[in-house]
Amino acid sequence: MAEIDPNFPYGLDRPRQVRGLAGIGMLAGVLTLVAAVVVDVATAEAVVVLLLLATCIGAFLASALMFRTSRTTKIRAVDDVLDGLELRGDERALDLGCGSGLLCAGLAVRLPAGDVVGVDAWVEHHLQPNGKPLARTTLHAAGVKGVHLRTGSMRELPVEDGAVQLAVSRDALSLLPGPVARDEVVAELLRVVRPGGRVALLEPFVARDLAARLTSAGFTDVTVGPRRWSLMPPHRLVTARRP
Ligand SMILES: C[S@@+](CC[C@H](N)C(=O)[O-])C[C@H]1O[C@@H](n2cnc3c(N)ncnc32)[C@H](O)[C@@H]1O
Repeated sequence: MAEIDPNFPYGLDRPRQVRGLAGIGMLAGVLTLVAAVVVDVATAEAVVVLLLLATCIGAFLASALMFRTSRTTKIRAVDDVLDGLELRGDERALDLGCGSGLLCAGLAVRLPAGDVVGVDAWVEHHLQPNGKPLARTTLHAAGVKGVHLRTGSMRELPVEDGAVQLAVSRDALSLLPGPVARDEVVAELLRVVRPGGRVALLEPFVARDLAARLTSAGFTDVTVGPRRWSLMPPHRLVTARRP
């Protein structure tokens, strides 16, 4: 199946957290060294050194895995999810929180006779670099055509009623401020996805919650996939059908 070109940078997800974890790792590393000098390692206080060392390793590891997710594994995961949707090639699709266009690129190569709309509010601390001109440049450089980028919130989608047969998203709904916002997005999905259309959301933190909200809103065939450990934080795929 067609693949997304892995040679284009699709941005660093959650840059604050990646840097924050690296900072914690560094601080814990320095404290480990200081504690190793100050503490008598033959006493019970050595536990402090071990705890600091574990924090240092854990924080650096999490930061490195998040970086790896942004550089490589999210591209593979998105390819896998889009392959699993078994698209005909003429659908009209929407990507919520499209960022630099990773899912838009994957959809565009699979929908040669279709149409792709990407919506994003371009929040800088959710993805770096982020912005409509950057997404346009990335998609152009990747040789992807036929993607329409729109600025707006997924809580109030700049998309007409019943305009799409498929709505997808990755690591964008988990960044919403709370359950009220997630309900607003689900209501918007109900509005913009035409009857019989599908929803596929690859999300790290709120997959089960989204599945429950989709079910309450009347979506059918709601499924929640297993955790995908190749991604940090691990994501689950939620799929549903618009009644
Ligand atoms: C971690 S990035 C993921 C980008 C893209 N989905 C991907 O997989 O590479 C999250 C994106 O969601 C966008 N976003 C966050 N809140 C949003 C909102 N309320 N409406 C639209 N976009 C939003 C951010 O601007 C950012 O581009």
